Amino acid sequence: MSRGTLRLAADAAGIAQAATLLRAGELVAFPTETVYGLGADAMDEAAVAAIYTAKNRPSFNPLIAHYATAAAAFGDVTPTALARRLADAFWPGPLTLVLPRQPRSAVSRLAGAGLDTQAVRVPAHPIAHRLLATVGRPVAAPSANPSGRVSPTTAQHVLDGLDGRIAAVIDGGACAVGLESTVVDLSGARPTLLRAGGITLEALRAVVPEITAAEPHDAEAPRSPGQLLSHYAPDLPLRLNAREVAGTEALLAFGSPLSGSPLSFNLSETSDLTEAAARLFAGLRWLDSQGRAQGLRGIAVMPIPLTDLGVAINDRLSRAASR
Ligand code: TXA
Ligand code: MG
Repeated sequence: MSRGTLRLAADAAGIAQAATLLRAGELVAFPTETVYGLGADAMDEAAVAAIYTAKNRPSFNPLIAHYATAAAAFGDVTPTALARRLADAFWPGPLTLVLPRQPRSAVSRLAGAGLDTQAVRVPAHPIAHRLLATVGRPVAAPSANPSGRVSPTTAQHVLDGLDGRIAAVIDGGACAVGLESTVVDLSGARPTLLRAGGITLEALRAVVPEITAAEPHDAEAPRSPGQLLSHYAPDLPLRLNAREVAGTEALLAFGSPLSGSPLSFNLSETSDLTEAAARLFAGLRWLDSQGRAQGLRGIAVMPIPLTDLGVAINDRLSRAASR
């Protein structure tokens, strides 16, 4: 695809055009409360295949199918009692459930990367909701970034990575949560957290106390194929839990900033984890591009507590730091 990508307004006309494009098998990025998704009609095998091509995503990494309602989502998978409880508590919202695929589901096998399970989510963002309701079909959508790179939280981030490779992006401004959804696998014997995200483990456990975090990361055989180590990679190397910063490093600050860096971005001056999550990916992208332009050698990251959303923030940072 050599033509440019349309930037659509997040109004009735823009959403209608996006829905028409999706129903015609085109790729359209759209805002959700977590990050921007790269959508395709989940029932259209060729459209789903085009997602993998546009992102250069390994074909073994399955996609989340997005729905306007829980009833629609639970038509394509077999919901357990726990799934219904979690959906009642957190949908619409930043939670993805992995469940056994319904044999009669029309979702493309490719979207589930050939697995017997399917990840489903009902996003809370009003633009995403209106788009999904208008399309009237499940929409497969990974984060709208080239595979392995930082997820996008603005329409400009989407264009920075995928301009010319997708038909359109709906510009709905910055994403409120800023981290991807929490992924819970309900297809096995025990409910398992596969990816920390916008819903904290504490919040999940208040509803389903028996949820456990997945086994420590196994790069050979990840339960969630997307949880590979190299991910969210900026070009500049990251140095985590920095207690001091060199003059050759950019600084990703949290709370009262360290001094000594010529370039810094503060995730939250008041040490607010919700604010830090919302600003994380934009901050990483900005420090990476500005830091490279200024000839800096790396990005020093101040410590971020491992509580609440800090768990998901630290997960993304450690993936960004591993290369
Ligand atoms: O917030 C989000 O989840 C965003 C927005 C657009 O909804 N989407 C997103 O998609 O982050 P993606 O593809 O970047 O990440 C989906 C994760 C991957 O780690 C993938 O391996 C995992 O979910 N996943 C998808 N289907 C799965 C399945 N059937 N079993 C296990 N893991 C699955
Ligand atoms: Mg992703």
